[in-house]
Amino acid sequence: MMLLFFLFILFLFVYDTCQFSPDGRLYQNSVLIGTRLYVFGGYTGKLEYTNETIYLDLTKSFDTSRPLWIKDITGTAPINAEFGTACLSPIDNSTVYLIGGVAFNETSLQYFKPPLIYAFNSVESKWTILNASGFASFDSNTTNIYNDMQAVMRHSLIYLFSGTNTLKPSESNLSTVSTLVTTLNIYNTKTMTWLFFNFSNTPTPREGYTANLLKNGHIVYIGGTETPNGASRETNVNMNNIPVFDTDDLIWILMTTSGDPVASRNSHSAVLTEDGKIIIFGGESGYGFVKVSPDLAILDTNSNPYEWSIPNIPPENKPPALAGHSSTLYNNNYMLIIFGRRTSNQPVTSTEVPLINDIIYVFDINNLVWTSTFSSTPASGQCTTHCVIGLVTAIISLLIISSIGIGCYYYKVKSINIFSFLCICRNKKPFSFLCICRNKKPFVNSNDPLR
Ligand SMILES: *[C@@H]1O[C@H](CO)[C@@H](O)[C@H](O)[C@H]1NC(C)=O
Ligand SMILES: *[C@@H]1O[C@H](CO)[C@@H](O)[C@H](O)[C@H]1NC(C)=O
Ligand SMILES: *[C@@H]1O[C@H](CO)[C@@H](O)[C@H](O)[C@H]1NC(C)=O
Ligand SMILES: *[C@@H]1O[C@H](CO)[C@@H](O)[C@H](O)[C@H]1NC(C)=O
Ligand SMILES: *[C@@H]1O[C@H](CO)[C@@H](O)[C@H](O)[C@H]1NC(C)=O
Ligand SMILES: *[C@@H]1O[C@H](CO)[C@@H](O)[C@H](O)[C@H]1NC(C)=O
Ligand SMILES: *[C@@H]1O[C@H](CO)[C@@H](O)[C@H](O)[C@H]1NC(C)=O
Repeated sequence: MMLLFFLFILFLFVYDTCQFSPDGRLYQNSVLIGTRLYVFGGYTGKLEYTNETIYLDLTKSFDTSRPLWIKDITGTAPINAEFGTACLSPIDNSTVYLIGGVAFNETSLQYFKPPLIYAFNSVESKWTILNASGFASFDSNTTNIYNDMQAVMRHSLIYLFSGTNTLKPSESNLSTVSTLVTTLNIYNTKTMTWLFFNFSNTPTPREGYTANLLKNGHIVYIGGTETPNGASRETNVNMNNIPVFDTDDLIWILMTTSGDPVASRNSHSAVLTEDGKIIIFGGESGYGFVKVSPDLAILDTNSNPYEWSIPNIPPENKPPALAGHSSTLYNNNYMLIIFGRRTSNQPVTSTEVPLINDIIYVFDINNLVWTSTFSSTPASGQCTTHCVIGLVTAIISLLIISSIGIGCYYYKVKSINIFSFLCICRNKKPFSFLCICRNKKPFVNSNDPLR
């Protein structure tokens, strides 16, 4: 009996203990690795910055208000950071590079600089701090913290334009001490060195922008804030001037746009569709999480100039206005909007926890509707680690249970004593219904050592 109960508990453990409802967070990094949507770090408003690595298994359907998050316990990050950037290696589709960000020491209550670049091996859930010599953008001996930039990886190179150096970041006040990084830095993941070029026509430095890599090798930089002409205060970048870096010819191109007017913003998110459209969502218009409009806009990069359009989307299941969230495109079908903070005019305070979003929202990009359920067609012919564990557990359990059954049967009915040590039907209550021998002819054997 105890054995069955133990197995039952084991089942629950294997399937359920890793699933949980995470705290809401913002300025996290999210990366799609195969069918898993990973989320690293972020600011939770409770424990300050989290080192959690969590993921959603997108082969499973879910209700968007109750996504089935799984905590990758062995994959807990060595650093609790926010405001950094992450990208997936296209070379193995399993290594994630995390760069910069702001870390927080819960003992000293001080902000500190995380490693400039570290990597997550998603197969082994293992972190490595990488060599990062040659980073030219700022004096690496200062306490400056490099953050709020967006990395893009193509082949073995990571492109990292601008971003900011802050002494002590203040999410609520963009005018606090920060110096924008002026260069495009490139990290060679093969040689583990930073390359430095002084490209002509480098756009004005900026932070809080998005970067998407088109199929033709162009990186499209949308929005963010800048300090034009040495202004002391950052202003939002014009959404109609879009710098593009050509990673083949190593030149900057300034693209303009036509179409619908889209309000300037920073801390928004953007995904690229198969047909070259960039869908942006959310963001703030500057100080203290001021809402922007429209929430969602689409940039068609197939035309010159690029063209903005604002689709007419039914209000059902629409998310609140968010900033500091992240988004991911899955199956060229769903745009998942992950965590973030509701925008309003309130500055970040310790009472902001209710403003931090702890669920995800799903936009169906083909039908241009917000949906309350994420329905996934499981990848066929693929068995994930969990599936293998599940299968093996099921087979072993089946074997054990049938052995017990057979054991009981022989023990009670055939009077053969093999498996008798496993017999669960000896004590009639309370799980005696499990026992196949219960209604068989009562067996009496005075030699039975158990009697
Ligand atoms: C992650 O953060 C928690 C909470 O601050 C801490 O107890 C734990 O030691 C950290 N884990 C690692 C691997 O740094
Ligand atoms: C990685 O994923 C991309 C996009 O799905 C695919 O084109 C590429 O072949 C994959 N590379 C490897 C090494 O699996
Ligand atoms: C955090 O601060 C404590 C106390 O100042 C210090 O001992 C510890 O090394 C710091 N941890 C990190 C990761 O910097
Ligand atoms: C880091 O890179 C520098 C320069 O390429 C090299 O001299 C050094 O040996 C490397 N260190 C490690 C630990 O790989
Ligand atoms: C940073 O500090 C190291 C060791 O103290 C020194 O060798 C190096 O020259 C310094 N770099 C800069 C840019 O000051
Ligand atoms: C932002 O920071 C600047 C400089 O520290 C300060 O003068 C200003 O009052 C701050 N604004 C807000 C809204 O906190
Ligand atoms: C890049 O080149 C420009 C002139 O072409 C020069 O003004 C600027 O200082 C250079 N930047 C760096 C970081 O070397």
